[in-house]
Amino acid sequence: MKKNIIAGNWKMNNTQKGTKELIAQLAPLVAGKDDCEIVLCVPFTSLNTARKAMRGTNMKLGAQNVHWADKGAFTGEVSAEMLAELKCEYVLVGHSERRQYFNETNDTVNKRVKKALEFKLKPIICIGETLEEREKGKTASVLEKQVTSAFVGIEKSSLKRIVVAYEPVWAIGTGKTATPEDANDTIWIVRKALRKLYGRTSASAMRIQYGGSMNAGNANELMAMAEIDGGLIGGASLKAEDFAKIVESANKVNE
Ligand code: 13P
Repeated sequence: MKKNIIAGNWKMNNTQKGTKELIAQLAPLVAGKDDCEIVLCVPFTSLNTARKAMRGTNMKLGAQNVHWADKGAFTGEVSAEMLAELKCEYVLVGHSERRQYFNETNDTVNKRVKKALEFKLKPIICIGETLEEREKGKTASVLEKQVTSAFVGIEKSSLKRIVVAYEPVWAIGTGKTATPEDANDTIWIVRKALRKLYGRTSASAMRIQYGGSMNAGNANELMAMAEIDGGLIGGASLKAEDFAKIVESANKVNE
């Protein structure tokens, strides 16, 4: 039995004040929705504020990136130890915006995943094809490559601590959602790649989220699909009522 996991990716939004307000609005709306896991991936500057604001709620803390080195001359980066100290439980790795604007590669994603695991953080590994790749019929090969690279050197025993987020780049922030059937079929490709690496049982037990313009209106349909075990939500995670509705859609026990 696996629980769905809904994670809000706030991206570069919310000051301390906004963080406190949004969490205060969310807390009563999602209270008691315990058949799914709820995570908020907030900016680094909001981690401590969010941690305090979430005390006593059923929401968990996540960050949006982590560096692969223990420490040192990496201006602007944040280490796994720093996140662990703030009781961060989850961390996004390899989000397409990091890949697109900050030269994140499959190799650096793998290094970050390993370091996150070393510090007992739970990585949410983000993968997805661009529109161009999709139109050229390369979706499967791109995703297989992203999966196999991200998991190099990762033991089977770590899989229960890892979530995969399939986010087609063309659906992020565009209002274009993959159809539930399409998202399901593509996540199946991802799961097959995981099967090749770790076998059927382990791959089936892994949680794979869909992300890309998921909202209060389409969450029910997406969450009803067999392969979709949750969502990674950008824009709609900034509005308490919308995010709470998505949580509601996910708050049911999976097979
Ligand atoms: P949107 O929900 O705004 O499309 O963003 C998706 C995303 O990138 C979550 O990580």
